Amino acid sequence: MARIVGGITTSHIPAIGKAMSEGMESDPYWERFFGGYEPVKEWLAKVNPDLAIIVYNDHGLNFSLDTVPTFALGCADRYENADEGWGLKTLASFEGDAAFSWHLAESLINQDFDITTCQQMLVDHGFVVPMALLWRHLPKWPVKTIPLAVNMVQHPLTSARRCLDLGKSLRRAIESYPDDQKVVIVGTGGMSHQLQGERAGHINVDFDLQCMESVINNPEWITALDNTEIIQRGGTEGIEVIMWLVMRGALKPDVKVVHKHYHVPISNTGAGVLVLEDANSGTDPSC
Ligand code: DHB
Ligand code: FE
Repeated sequence: MARIVGGITTSHIPAIGKAMSEGMESDPYWERFFGGYEPVKEWLAKVNPDLAIIVYNDHGLNFSLDTVPTFALGCADRYENADEGWGLKTLASFEGDAAFSWHLAESLINQDFDITTCQQMLVDHGFVVPMALLWRHLPKWPVKTIPLAVNMVQHPLTSARRCLDLGKSLRRAIESYPDDQKVVIVGTGGMSHQLQGERAGHINVDFDLQCMESVINNPEWITALDNTEIIQRGGTEGIEVIMWLVMRGALKPDVKVVHKHYHVPISNTGAGVLVLEDANSGTDPSC
């Protein structure tokens, strides 16, 4: 049976990818930020997942504004990255697992999540920057991946409540897959930022810290907020943080915090990272 070894949430700011490709990790601006990922990599080496489900939003590379699915699942054996105009290096393609994806699609649709299935999908910085941060620039990525794209660009957007519920359904879908696979769920995006308009540059540290606390101990705090309130507090693009709740919903109600780190600002954004496990999971890399 497939099982979840834990979850990670992280910001997916494009400038991080550029800093990595230019070898700037030890520069004063970046050092503390990248230091926050060392414990994540140590944890990943210990739990050694076979597959990562990356919950992220496409920013216009794969879906143009003409056709934007609310939830889209990659159902391919390979995903390509491409130039999206941020000056990011295009990275090696990512191995998928189409059989596992189709199982997830069937299970999610049976649980009333009418997701779009994509047999071709270009993955953008929302997917690629977290992959590079967690596993670095290996010629071949050490995990298979399944992209799960949530629309965070074209209104109307889904809600925090729906993201949490999607995570709960995702857990049932994963745990009903007969293959022995260790799965990590990665929720990307956020934290507070606004890239446009009169409030461009808006960052709200208090709100970010409340969101982190809520994701750990009280997801209902965020799910009680509607999207307008989240955008008022966290900025127009800060709404991306609700994708963290997909990861949270996939874990048990009680979680153990393996790692928590926050650094502000990176580019225009409050940058947070969390690693959570089910409270009683007792990480045993041998099983
Ligand atoms: C930035 C953050 C994002 O999440 C994004 O998708 C693009 C840019 C930024 O802070 O620059
Ligand atoms: Fe983004």
